[in-house]
Amino acid sequence: METLKRTKIKALLSEKPGIEVLAKGWVRTKRGNKQVKFIALNDGSTIANIQIVANTELFDEELFKKITTGASLAVRGKLVESMGSGQAVEIQATDIQVLGECDPMRFPLQKKDTTLEYLRSVAHMRLRTNTFGAVLRIRNQMAFAIHTFFNQKGFVYLHTPLITESDAEGAGDMFQVTTLDLKNIPLDKKGNVDFSKDFFGKKTSLTVSGQLEGELGATAVGEIYTFGPTFRAENSNTPRHLAEFWMIEPEMAFYDINDNMELAEEFVKFLVQWALDHCMEDLKFLNDKYDEGLIERMQSVLGIPFQRVTYTEAVEILEKAVADGVKFEYPVHWGTDFQSEHERYLVEKHFCKPVILIDFPKDIKAFYMKQNEDGRTVRGMDVLFPKIGEIIGGSEREASLEKLEARIEELGMSRKNLEWYIDTRRYGSVPHSGFGLGFERLLLFVTGMANIRDVIPFPRTPKNAEF
Ligand code: 4AD
Ligand code: MG
Repeated sequence: METLKRTKIKALLSEKPGIEVLAKGWVRTKRGNKQVKFIALNDGSTIANIQIVANTELFDEELFKKITTGASLAVRGKLVESMGSGQAVEIQATDIQVLGECDPMRFPLQKKDTTLEYLRSVAHMRLRTNTFGAVLRIRNQMAFAIHTFFNQKGFVYLHTPLITESDAEGAGDMFQVTTLDLKNIPLDKKGNVDFSKDFFGKKTSLTVSGQLEGELGATAVGEIYTFGPTFRAENSNTPRHLAEFWMIEPEMAFYDINDNMELAEEFVKFLVQWALDHCMEDLKFLNDKYDEGLIERMQSVLGIPFQRVTYTEAVEILEKAVADGVKFEYPVHWGTDFQSEHERYLVEKHFCKPVILIDFPKDIKAFYMKQNEDGRTVRGMDVLFPKIGEIIGGSEREASLEKLEARIEELGMSRKNLEWYIDTRRYGSVPHSGFGLGFERLLLFVTGMANIRDVIPFPRTPKNAEF
């Protein structure tokens, strides 16, 4: 059997009948009668299965007992035109080997209708389902699209550290990294933890953002992007938050907030278009199974310019909505951070298109954002999407050394860990901007899945780090 080279099922399905082929994969279903068995085989290269037709006279009866859902097979045979509906070709088997049996009594993916909640509890096996096959293939395409987009524009892919001293977002929700013995923590004379004894000789954590190091790159080679894992120890049990997620952070020298908005809009439109161009089979499956509006919603963001609106204007719209009887769970007035219900109202009810919010109150945004003339707002930028809310957060950065130092002081931040960052403003400071796209938020949008735990293979959330 092995003298013939295996062909992936995706390729087999578009081959012309008449050739001898070898397919390998996992059994999805088996049906048939005494004379003939039909086996649906899937190898993950596509959502479609290839049908194996096995004439029972050619095989030992015992063989078919081992061909159960989940078992792995190698099948050799002739590719023939299929009589059945649903596929152009099928394999008329001449040789079948069971590579790995699968006990039908114990295999966790037995039940016909497995809910997404149940599948999360068997996340190590759920990747074998049609749903997660589709999600994984789309996730892969999106990663490739991201690198393609920036590569075409001449951006440099910058690898920023995962272990860091600095809390870029200033929210304080970081996972500490230590090799100290937690049962015997060294203390200094004042009774504080003596981090000089720790692995790095200082207190370190997993990064919440690669931005600050990204700015070092941008102010050296012009335009960079990062694409890596990000960690946040916020106790948010929502369908949109993960403790470990992937973020893409472009950072560009000589860009102002308008250039930043333009790039963000072009970027997400490119990614959505890429998904429509390269993942249609999987999108159709997800559209039919989970979210009838998926493909239409994706197409709807492409043709039109996003709505640009200031935070202050958005507050006025939301306050008017409340006055007109719209009920929100959280109150909204100038100075509050918007909740996802407010963001979605703006996008889905008021403007009916993606929204770019700018000019936020400085007190709800990070220290590095460029301060506006009015003294109370900063040049932040959030991109809001239908069904998701915030998908991108970014800003023009404060380029003035004096203003940046004043803000750090005002917020009572420790300068000690930030001198290296402040150096970008000391030596050849330039106007610059950047943003962060949450990879899994993007995937929510392009898969139609409702819960962020279902667009990452192994989700990490409070009290959950299985597998
Ligand atoms: O708005 P955020 O916090 O911005 C930053 O981290 C900036 N340093 C980005 C930059 O300017 N370079 O996060 C950016 C995006 C959010 O818009 C959201 O899509 C995603 O990251 N995000 C999360 N995704 C999943 N789970 C979480 N807990 C997330 N927190 C943020
Ligand atoms: Mg944000």
